Amino acid sequence: MKSATILNKAIKEMPVNSFKCEFPAKSLNESFARIIVSAFVNQLDPTIAELSDIKTSVSEAVTNSIVHAYRETDIKKAQNVYLSGEYYSDGKIVITVKDKGCGIPNIKEAMQPLYTTLPSDERSGMGFTIIASFSDKLKVSSAPNKGTTVRFEKRIGNT
Ligand SMILES: Nc1ncnc2c1ncn2[C@@H]1O[C@H](COP(=O)(O)OP(=O)(O)O)[C@@H](O)[C@H]1O
Ligand SMILES: [Mg+2]
Repeated sequence: MKSATILNKAIKEMPVNSFKCEFPAKSLNESFARIIVSAFVNQLDPTIAELSDIKTSVSEAVTNSIVHAYRETDIKKAQNVYLSGEYYSDGKIVITVKDKGCGIPNIKEAMQPLYTTLPSDERSGMGFTIIASFSDKLKVSSAPNKGTTVRFEKRIGNT
């Protein structure tokens, strides 16, 4: 491969813009996370529908870190949510929501529609299903007592 081609490829694979932040896993920070992501994604001039899909996915992932990750009360470490985003020249947006909580023992099972470990708490068990349907790609990784990372991608401007 010629060096100019390699360089062009490398530039294409570099994010045009990105952000990283962290905040305590408190329910009032769900709307905070939505606002951060909206402000970031607005730089790409999304449609109302595209923005709404991304905001909903962020809400679901951040809410999961807030309500599920740190439910064990004896967790001593900082109970934070780590949110980051990046977008690329082709309109691809990648959002990552991470926590250092209890982890998910069986990711496949947790991602099934209607599966919830908190049925009494008005959870619908549809969070992962919603993120999967509103994004182009969803990846969940998790380790017991280490935490969970939810990464989803959406390319905007496709129509
Ligand atoms: N960040 C997380 N940390 C620990 N467990 C999680 C996390 N996110 C999801 N889970 C587990 O996956 C299940 C399914 O999540 P979800 O589809 O969003 O449904 P719901 O939040 O309504 O229970 C949760 O009930 C919980 O057991
Ligand atoms: Mg949920």
